Amino acid sequence: MSARFSLKGQIAVVTGASGGIGAAGAVALAEAGADVALVARNRAKLEQTAKAVEAAGRKALIVETDVTNESAVKALVDTVTKDLGAPDILFNNAGVTTGLPLVDMPLAEWERIINVNLTGTYLCCRAFASGMIARKRGSIINMGSVLSGRGMALRTVYSASKAGVANFGAALAFELGPHGITVNTIGATVIVTDLNRDLIKNQPQLYEKVLSRHAVPRFGDVEDVAGTLVFLASPAARFITGQTIFVDGGYTAG
Ligand SMILES: NC(=O)c1ccc[n+]([C@@H]2O[C@H](COP(=O)([O-])OP(=O)(O)OC[C@H]3O[C@@H](n4cnc5c(N)ncnc54)[C@H](OP(=O)(O)O)[C@@H]3O)[C@@H](O)[C@H]2O)c1
Repeated sequence: MSARFSLKGQIAVVTGASGGIGAAGAVALAEAGADVALVARNRAKLEQTAKAVEAAGRKALIVETDVTNESAVKALVDTVTKDLGAPDILFNNAGVTTGLPLVDMPLAEWERIINVNLTGTYLCCRAFASGMIARKRGSIINMGSVLSGRGMALRTVYSASKAGVANFGAALAFELGPHGITVNTIGATVIVTDLNRDLIKNQPQLYEKVLSRHAVPRFGDVEDVAGTLVFLASPAARFITGQTIFVDGGYTAG
């Protein structure tokens, strides 16, 4: 692989690595040469991702962590640094959603989604940034959405959280840029995973409307996101920061 796109010798941390986009992203980072720390709450599923990372010839480290738990996230940094090495790449991908309309949404549900999607991203960025600043290198990629920049019925809290992630990343890019660290957001359209399989079944009209706006007339799959993740983590993207890169079949171009 060209050195521009190679992650050989790098250490990556992937949150939400127990399934969907995170599991595929972890394997893609490994295929590009990185050893990967796999973070989520479900150990059995993390073990499946670890097997796939190892099959790609790289080391995998499982660290069961809830990204909303401040002290657990601090401990995560120490564990990764001690057991795998100093992290170069952080993919903040852990995320949750709901299909509830605003008037039926309990405060606890609002807080659950903001806590995982936005506060979890903040906690992980804060915890890993200090070491990256000291080493003067790092790539942070946060998982946004097409809803980082626009709205959709029945997705109020999710849209709020993902707009927060994108603008948090744009602001953070300015704090970390002088230290050699890039911060970008991936803005994905519907990627079929456990996150949305039931929603696609239960809210078909909403998803048909999304699909009708795609230039490429299909939903995404996890591999559609993996290539952009590897690119943003690679030396080829060293002058790209503060951006939301849409992986959306053309949804936001229309
Ligand atoms: N699928 C889409 O259409 C789509 C589109 C745009 C953006 N996204 C975003 O992409 C990311 C991944 O989504 P996905 O579709 O791959 O969903 P998924 O298959 O449901 O995966 C979500 C991941 O987040 C982890 N997670 C949830 N809460 C967590 C917590 N408190 N601490 C640590 N990990 C936690 C889950 O692991 P555990 O349950 O094991 O903890 C799981 O690994 C999310 O941020 C999502 O918002 C998805």
